[in-house]
Amino acid sequence: MRKLAEDYPNVQMTGVDINQDVVDHARSKSEGYPNISFEVGDIADWRPAEGFDSPEVILLHNIFHYIHPELRAQLLNHLYSYLKKDGLVSVITPINETEHGEAFSSAFNSFFVAHSNLFALPNVAELEGLAESCRFDLFDLDPIIKEGSWYTFWLTPSIRVGRIGRYQEAEGNEQTLNNPRQLTKSS
Ligand SMILES: C[S@@+](CC[C@H](N)C(=O)[O-])C[C@H]1O[C@@H](n2cnc3c(N)ncnc32)[C@H](O)[C@@H]1O
Repeated sequence: MRKLAEDYPNVQMTGVDINQDVVDHARSKSEGYPNISFEVGDIADWRPAEGFDSPEVILLHNIFHYIHPELRAQLLNHLYSYLKKDGLVSVITPINETEHGEAFSSAFNSFFVAHSNLFALPNVAELEGLAESCRFDLFDLDPIIKEGSWYTFWLTPSIRVGRIGRYQEAEGNEQTLNNPRQLTKSS
């Protein structure tokens, strides 16, 4: 967030974490960044306060394994309910059952399922099914660390324009958060 806050000084960002200690630490690291604020909250029900604009971009990074598989659709539906209708969700997550990262994700999964508050990683089919059932287009699924099975992708509400249209729109626009599709790797 601090890197983004420097790159986009006019964009207001809110970090949400369920753990007070994490929020306290993040706040202390982000002193001097007037465009970053933090709130303690559960992303399953957190939403911007009354009177605040709908966010253009939501970062959902390294969180799926904290969410029970049966509650992941509920989470995406909740994000959909307050994200701008032409907005974006940036997702970073380890993924299960990928071609190059099988050993790593298996080890991850064994670790996660041994903890009562952590859950199995999603695989690509689950993510695609989730996106579709929650009215998102999923695009630009790319490995960050292929052998570590760590991936990034984007979700955008699919109500207006199809996936192809969004790819085409991403080309040639100015890079600002008012045109958040520019953050896609394909642009
Ligand atoms: C692996 S860390 C990822 C942190 C950060 N997003 C990143 O990518 O560096 C996961 C964080 O999610 C928080 N968390 C877990 N479940 C949550 C929930 N339901 N709502 C909000 N935060 C949650 C944990 O407290 C933890 O700080």
